[in-house]
Amino acid sequence: MVKRLLWANFKLNMSTKAQIAEYMQVLAASLTDEVDVVFFPQLTQVGLLASVYPDLARWAQNVTHHANGAYTGEVSIATLLDLWIQYALLGHSERRQYYGETDQAVAAKIIACVEQGIRPVVCVGETLEEREAGKTLAALERQLSVYKEVCSFASLDLAYEPVRAIGTGLTPTNEDIAEVHTWMRGYAGTEKTRILYGGSSNDVNAPTFIQLPNVDGFLVGWAALDPVKFGKMISATAA
Ligand code: PGA
Repeated sequence: MVKRLLWANFKLNMSTKAQIAEYMQVLAASLTDEVDVVFFPQLTQVGLLASVYPDLARWAQNVTHHANGAYTGEVSIATLLDLWIQYALLGHSERRQYYGETDQAVAAKIIACVEQGIRPVVCVGETLEEREAGKTLAALERQLSVYKEVCSFASLDLAYEPVRAIGTGLTPTNEDIAEVHTWMRGYAGTEKTRILYGGSSNDVNAPTFIQLPNVDGFLVGWAALDPVKFGKMISATAA
């Protein structure tokens, strides 16, 4: 069995050194080797986490596929590697929604990451409309088929993040999560792909969700901003 995963996506939060230091002070007591706890902070905070907690994994919320050049505001894979970052989140629904990232753009990032030694964590998920039309698996297959063409799934991890569940407090049913994760495992065709659930996971639902088949852990947004709640999630995920 893979070590269970609890990955905190700080998004555009935890913006100051003081906030991170205060957060880590509360969370420190809950950290355990039994769970793979990882932080995706704003890139500028990676150095701070590294200096205060050198053993704590901290990875990137995004990266560009361009190696270098006139791409104002982007961050390169070389920069991530220089900061000892080994994983990058790709295709988060907020990137798709607010920055127009397409499956093709995500695929280009996957290729560049895999070639250069960054492991992608690729987010996929259906919209509310797709879910209501009974097209959840078709939507996931549409996304995953683009990625399957460009790399072996053994080189990446997947996060199932139904768009309607992100930041809304609305989660799918246990049956829905189990069905989708089991389908994704079959589609990936390998145990090497770790499959996280993301979308309003928290300290209350984590104990149940972690027991579902093919749920290897969680990609957590809001609940990860509260170190007490996140600490409880660590215990729940380890149990
Ligand atoms: P949420 O976000 O836990 O706040 O729903 C999850 C995510 O966006 O990865």
